[in-house]
Amino acid sequence: MADLSINIAGLQFKNPVTTASGTFGYGDEFTEFIDLGRLGGIFVKAVTGKNRNGNAYPRMAETPSGMLNSVGLQNKGVDHFCREIYPKIMNFDTHIIVNVSGSTVEEYVEVAERINELEKVPAIELNISCPNVKLGGMAFGTVPSMATEVTAAVRKVYKKVLMVKLSPNVTSITDLAKAVADGGADVITLINTLLGMSIDAEQRRPVLSTITGGLSGPAIKPVALRMVWQVHKAVNIPIVGLGGIMNATDAIEFILAGASAIQVGTANFIDPMISVKIVDGIEDYLNSHQIGSLPELVGALRTE
Ligand code: SIN
Repeated sequence: MADLSINIAGLQFKNPVTTASGTFGYGDEFTEFIDLGRLGGIFVKAVTGKNRNGNAYPRMAETPSGMLNSVGLQNKGVDHFCREIYPKIMNFDTHIIVNVSGSTVEEYVEVAERINELEKVPAIELNISCPNVKLGGMAFGTVPSMATEVTAAVRKVYKKVLMVKLSPNVTSITDLAKAVADGGADVITLINTLLGMSIDAEQRRPVLSTITGGLSGPAIKPVALRMVWQVHKAVNIPIVGLGGIMNATDAIEFILAGASAIQVGTANFIDPMISVKIVDGIEDYLNSHQIGSLPELVGALRTE
C-alpha cells in the first residue's frame, strides 16, 4: 500500500488532501457527510480582526465550468473565532489551518498573533489575495513590496507554519512568490480566485452586487496548474495547490506540477464527500503506478 503522508515545512500531513477556505465552513458542517479524520487538513473560513458582514446579495453566480463569489470575508472576527469556534473544532483529527485576512498590516498581525496562541492550530494561511474587498486583500497580493511587507510583519509574531495564499491576478506570479518567500513564508498556497464578472443581459445589470467577483471551479484549473508549475521552478519552498480540482486526477496533475498538497474548493459545493473520494483516488493512482510514497510524485512532471 502506498504511503500518502507528506511533510510540509516540518508539519506532517497524513495525506495531501485539504479543503479550501470558504468552501468548507469550519469543518463541523461536514461531519455528517465524511470522517474529517480522513483529510490531511482543513483550511477554515477567513478570520479578520473584527466582525464583517460581507458584501450585499447577490454575491454568488454560477458560470459555465465555474462559480463567481463576492462574499467579502464575512465572519464574526477573531475574538468570536477563538471563543466560540475553536473549542468546537480543536479536537478534529486533522490539521486545522486558519485563513487570516485583513485590511491593514496591523490587522493581519493582530489576527496572526491571536491565532498563534491556539495550541491546536499548527499553521495559518495569510490571505493576501481576496478580490472582493475594497481595502487590503488582493491589494497586498498584487504588489511585491507590499506582499513582502505584510508577510514579514506577520512572520515576526507568528511562530508556527506560515503559509501565504497568492492571487492569480498578477502579471508575474513568480515575482509574488519570491516576494513572500523573502518575507519569510514557509509555504505558498495558490491560486485564489480570478477576478471576473457576470452580466444579466435582460436586466442589463451585473449579476453580483459588487459587479466583479472571484472565479473558481474547473474553468480556472489550467491557469492554476501553470502557476503552480512556474512557482515550483522559481522558489524553493513547498506549495499547496488549488484551483478547480474536481477529482483525484486533477489533484495528481497539481502534484506533478509541483504541489506537495492540494486544496479542494468549489467541488465541495457539488459533492460534500468529494475530498475523501480524492484521497482514495490518489491512493489508487499511487498503487496502480507502483509509487511507494507521495513525495516521489511531487514535481515529477516529465517535460523533456
Ligand atoms: C470572500 O470572502 O470574498 C472570498 C475570500 C477570498 O477570495 O479570499
